[in-house]
Amino acid sequence: MHLTPVVAGLALAAVGNASPCPPRGGVKPIKQIELGPRPYYLVNNMTDGPLKDELQACTDKPMKPSTWSIGHRGGAPLQFPEHSRESALAGARMGAGVLECDVAFTKDRELVCRHSQCDLHTTTNIVAVPELNAKCTQPFRPAADGKPASAKCCTSDITLAEFKSLCAKMDGANTSATNPQAYLAGTPSWRTDLYATCGTVLEHKEHIALVEGLGLRHTPELKAPEVKMPFQGNYTQDMYAQQLIDNYKRARVPAERVLAQSFQYRDVLYWLKAEPAFGKTAILLDESGGTPETYPQAVQNLTTYHAAGVRTVAPPLAYLVEATKDGKIAPSAYARRANELGLAIITWSLERSGPLAAVHRNGDSYYSSIRDVIHKDGDMYELLDVLYRKVKVAGLFSDWSATVTFYANCVGVGLGSK
Ligand SMILES: *[C@@H]1O[C@H](CO)[C@@H](O)[C@H](O)[C@H]1NC(C)=O
Ligand SMILES: *[C@@H]1O[C@H](CO)[C@@H](O)[C@H](O)[C@H]1NC(C)=O
Ligand SMILES: *[C@@H]1O[C@H](CO)[C@@H](O)[C@H](O)[C@H]1NC(C)=O
Ligand SMILES: *[C@@H]1O[C@H](CO)[C@@H](O)[C@H](O)[C@H]1NC(C)=O
Repeated sequence: MHLTPVVAGLALAAVGNASPCPPRGGVKPIKQIELGPRPYYLVNNMTDGPLKDELQACTDKPMKPSTWSIGHRGGAPLQFPEHSRESALAGARMGAGVLECDVAFTKDRELVCRHSQCDLHTTTNIVAVPELNAKCTQPFRPAADGKPASAKCCTSDITLAEFKSLCAKMDGANTSATNPQAYLAGTPSWRTDLYATCGTVLEHKEHIALVEGLGLRHTPELKAPEVKMPFQGNYTQDMYAQQLIDNYKRARVPAERVLAQSFQYRDVLYWLKAEPAFGKTAILLDESGGTPETYPQAVQNLTTYHAAGVRTVAPPLAYLVEATKDGKIAPSAYARRANELGLAIITWSLERSGPLAAVHRNGDSYYSSIRDVIHKDGDMYELLDVLYRKVKVAGLFSDWSATVTFYANCVGVGLGSK
């Protein structure tokens, strides 16, 4: 497109470059996203057919960020320490249009990004910092007498300042370890420690500033507390749920760009009542149908959620698809019911399972309903295609954002919206 100088000036002003303020979060929107080789590797590994032809025809297309591509645990935890600033930047670089911060509270009731309130012993170096290890709910215990090494360190064990002194690392632990350093070395072989060079941990407010600076959307998840509530006698679940929303209001982020999530139905009901604008965009995460016995009830529950005003549900991948007799992937009863009700569906999480040939051999919860028809990495795009065209998902969490961004660009979903 050829712009006259006047039009070009307006376009620049529109993206905020005329502002004298320093960029929020120390970053600016990424103009040139990059997907790296992985999506192309996956396409090459697909079985020949119309879908492979369609995706191959996109391999030289310029790529844009997509709101359909949701950065799980930052957007790049396949290779970067989860919930670190570096993972968020890598997710944004790979075109995630929405970035996740799982939210937990510290001892001084500040909110930080962590996948669970009590995972600091596997996602940070805390057990190797003696004065902080000593503050853990259960400090590091070496493997001995046939018992595995263990520790339990919660964000609520330490203050925000102490949390910020930690290094983010790849999630994992070696439970045969007899010392803290060996315990920290537990990264699965198909991930990498290449970028685990003291990842920058983030408090929730910093994450908000970072995502605002990048010009993307936010998806915070209110993690279920692992301590008794009210915490410290007077910090209630509702105060915690409200604090998460207040951080966006204080940062002047409009509710339309915030997709607050929780596995706890009561939290979503709270937002619908106390903060309707945020309740409208909230996501009810659902893991209530993980067995053949509970699955029918989970499908039935959708009617209740819909009637209560829930607009978006987010079950794991396996709930939404099933394998057909002729070896194809098809929408499940859950997917059909959610569509009938007009509920939007978001799902999780792609790229968490490692090589799919091993998933076929050994099983994996994310693929449990389609294990028989998943044989190789290229089959990931067969799944994505069914999720987009037949399940009609509104977005997909991924541990490697490029994989989803590529598909979104190819079919043209979630592009150009902020
Ligand atoms: C895809 O990868 C698998 C290994 O997982 C390999 O056996 C197969 O030949 C590859 N298929 C194609 C079409 O490249
Ligand atoms: C786990 O730790 C044990 C004991 O230090 C060690 O022998 C073993 O090699 C480690 N395993 C891995 C996968 O690093
Ligand atoms: C909550 O309880 C603590 C004591 O545990 C007290 O110091 C604090 O003032 C109370 N805060 C509120 C808001 O009631
Ligand atoms: C949803 O289904 C599960 C069973 O899978 C049940 O235990 C739960 O109470 C239901 N939740 C609601 C809110 O209906």
